[in-house]
Formats: sequence, structure tokens, C-alpha cells
Amino acid sequence: MLGPLTLLLGLLPIHLVLGQVPQELFSPLIPQKVLAAYRASSNLQWPQYTDNAGRWLYFPPRTWTSGFFPATLYELNKRRSICGVTDANQLGTADWLALGRSNSRGLPLDAGGVGHDVGFISFPFVEELTINPSNQTARSSINSLATALANRFDARVGCTRSWDASDPTDFQVIIDNMMNLELLFVSANLTGNQRLRDIAITHAKTTMNNHIRRDGSTWHVVHYNQTNGRVTRKRTAQGYSDDSTWSRGQAWGIYGFANMFRLTRDAAFLRTSQRMARWFVNNLPQDGIVPWDFNAPLNPAPRPADSSAATLVSNALLLLSSLEPDPTLKREWADAAIRILQQITRLAWRPQWQSLLSNGTVNRPANNQLTGIVYGDYYYIKVANELVLNNIVTCDGKWT
Ligand SMILES: *[C@@H]1O[C@H](CO)[C@@H](O)[C@H](O)[C@H]1NC(C)=O
Ligand SMILES: *[C@@H]1O[C@H](CO)[C@@H](O)[C@H](O)[C@H]1NC(C)=O
Ligand SMILES: *[C@@H]1O[C@H](CO)[C@@H](O)[C@H](O)[C@H]1NC(C)=O
Ligand SMILES: *[C@@H]1O[C@H](CO)[C@@H](O)[C@H](O)[C@H]1NC(C)=O
Repeated sequence: MLGPLTLLLGLLPIHLVLGQVPQELFSPLIPQKVLAAYRASSNLQWPQYTDNAGRWLYFPPRTWTSGFFPATLYELNKRRSICGVTDANQLGTADWLALGRSNSRGLPLDAGGVGHDVGFISFPFVEELTINPSNQTARSSINSLATALANRFDARVGCTRSWDASDPTDFQVIIDNMMNLELLFVSANLTGNQRLRDIAITHAKTTMNNHIRRDGSTWHVVHYNQTNGRVTRKRTAQGYSDDSTWSRGQAWGIYGFANMFRLTRDAAFLRTSQRMARWFVNNLPQDGIVPWDFNAPLNPAPRPADSSAATLVSNALLLLSSLEPDPTLKREWADAAIRILQQITRLAWRPQWQSLLSNGTVNRPANNQLTGIVYGDYYYIKVANELVLNNIVTCDGKWT
């Protein structure tokens, strides 16, 4: 909490508190590995996670993760435009924008087979519009994905549906879906359809009311009865137990509510992101390594980490920091983001693997862990760009 120590640390220069920026964030191995994965991908196959030896496995378009690799290529294009090309960064080896555009072709544009996870698939299209707002392919892709998501909304429940169940009145919503909502705002902007914006706000408010425990931790899945909108059950799908906190879910929530505050300026969303961030930071183990689930047993050791939750939450904390009106908290969230990056880099940076990082947990109940993960690497690259854009770190990996 906000003790005298926190206040004192907030006054000290950042390098005295935190030491070095992880140099790996700007390593030339990043463009090298991303380019190799691009070249290895055959037609209409996208990397999702690696085997336990660090070799990428490739998946067909109708997979929720297909948008992350093209979005990674757009992030390297962004890095090239903010940092330029140097011998040290090796960003001159490809036209990242051309690769991102070509790799976006063939992504699914409706909910068939991908269901609710359309927000992630839209990432490269949203990036494309920041470069070329009149790209018609990107515009129409965003609009059809947003329409598919809006069709999963139910007004009695006040949410978009996640997984389809055999009983249609069994309406399941996962915390991850907070990440879908920006897509609705972007499409509302393009089409003028304000209903999309209203759906996003309603979904966020319902989630705020039902997914978050009093202490700021989260349930992964909430079931509603679609007939009357009542909550019927709260449980986990990918976490350790129904009462535990799955770290990636908690991180999706911190990011999602901070982003909702950015998009609406509704202070209730800011407070929700802050409460969830406070819980995350206060519950990190001593070693600062993000576990796959905060309540998973420590024995047998080592309890698997989740490097993807670590890189995701770093982005979430940095986004929250950038929006934070309170200067002490602003500094605290950014410091926490960097400390988590230092620890995960130390544990999981793997020069010999095809992915940047190891120690990802895709799905522990399904026994899929100790892998590289495409969204873990994506958020590792993105957070370094954000550290530069927020004027915290230079492209040489030094404090500003
Ligand atoms: C427009 O965007 C799409 C999807 O992002 C991309 O595949 C295409 O190459 C872009 N078109 C142009 C002319 O840049
Ligand atoms: C939802 O409520 C209706 C009416 O009370 C009931 O018939 C139905 O079985 C319930 N569904 C679930 C999934 O609980
Ligand atoms: C909506 O459009 C406005 C005006 O062009 C822009 O400033 C804003 O960033 C857009 N929002 C989204 C979510 O795309
Ligand atoms: C990290 O990954 C390595 C290599 O897969 C593994 O040996 C180690 O036990 C993992 N550590 C944690 C905390 O998951």
C-alpha cells in the first residue's frame, strides 16, 4: 500500500530504484526471430505457441490468436518509425509494414469458428488504420468483426456471449472479453453506429459488477441465465480453481478497464483497473515472477510461471500509468511494469528458441505449458515501444 517507503521510492531517480532496463527489449534478435517465423509460415498458417524445445507450431486462420503475429509485424514497423534503423537494432532487414499487410490476408472476418475472440483478430486491421485510415479492406474487416461481436450481445444479460453452450440459456462470459471492446469503439467511429459503443459500455459495466471480487481479484468465467439475466455460477476454465485468480485473466482485466477509461473517461473504469492492478502487484511472489495462477500450489516446485501474463500485465500497468492522474500512482504502476519485465526477462529470455520468451503457460489444466507464446512475444515487443513512446526509456535501452 501507499506507505512512507513507496513515497520515498517515488522521489528517487528511477535507476537507483530499479537498476537497468532489460537490454533484451531492444535486442537485434527480435527482428531476426520474427523474420524467421514469417518466412517459415506457409500459406494461411500463423504461429501460436512453441513446443517445449521452442519451435513454433502453426495454426489455421480460424484460431483466436491469428491476429497476433501480423500485429507483431506492425509493432516492428512502429519501432522502426520511432527508433530508426541502426546497426545495433537490425530493424533494416525487412519492410515490416509490407510484411504486416501481407500477413493480414486471410484472417477470418466473421465469428464462425472463432466465436467471441474477434477483438484480438482485429489488432492488425486497427494498426493498419493508424497508418492508412482509408484502407477499405481494413475498414470493412473491422466492421464485419464488430458486427459479429455485436450479434453476440444480449440486453437482458448486458454482455456479449463468450462460449456457446448446448443450453442456449446458459450464457457464459469470460474476463478476457474486456479486450474485445475497443473494436466496437473503432467500428462505431467508422460507421457512426453508436449502438456498438453502448454495447461495449454495458458489457464493461456488467463485468465490473460481476467478475471482480471485493478484494480486486477476478473470476475467470461468469454464467448468466439468458432468460432473466441472473448470475448462476462463477468459476474458472483455465485457472487453478473456481476461487483462484488466473493471472492472465487478471491482466486482461487491468488492461481492458484502463482502456475503457481511455475510451470513455468514466472514472468507474479507472477505479476498477486500479483495484485490479493493486491486487496484482500486492500478490506477486517475492521473486517477482508472475505465476500462471496466483493460488496454484508452490509444490511441486517450480510452480509454472506465465511469461505471457507477465508481458501482458506490463503493458496493462504502463497503460494505466499513462492515464493515471495521481503522480505517485503513475510512477508506481510504471515501476511495477518494469520490475516485472526485468524478472521475466531474467527467467525466460531464450536466444536458442524460435520465440523470444519461454515459460509461457498456454493452458495448464490442458497440460500445455513451458512454451513460447505468440501473444507473450507480441506484448514484449509492444511494451518496449510503449516505454519509448511514454518517454521512460530510449531506443538504446537507457532511462531517459
Ligand atoms: C489494406 O489493409 C489490408 C489488411 O490489413 C492489407 O492486407 C492490404 O495490403 C492493405 N492495402 C494497401 C493498399 O495497403
Ligand atoms: C434459466 O431460467 C429459466 C427460467 O427460470 C429456466 O427454465 C432455465 O433452466 C434456466 N437456465 C439455466 C441455464 O439455469
Ligand atoms: C475516433 O475518431 C476520433 C476522431 O478522428 C479519434 O480521435 C479517436 O481516436 C477515434 N477513436 C477510436 C477508438 O478509434
Ligand atoms: C522456465 O522454463 C524452463 C525451460 O522450459 C524450465 O526448466 C523452468 O522450470 C521454468 N521455470 C518456471 C518457474 O516456470
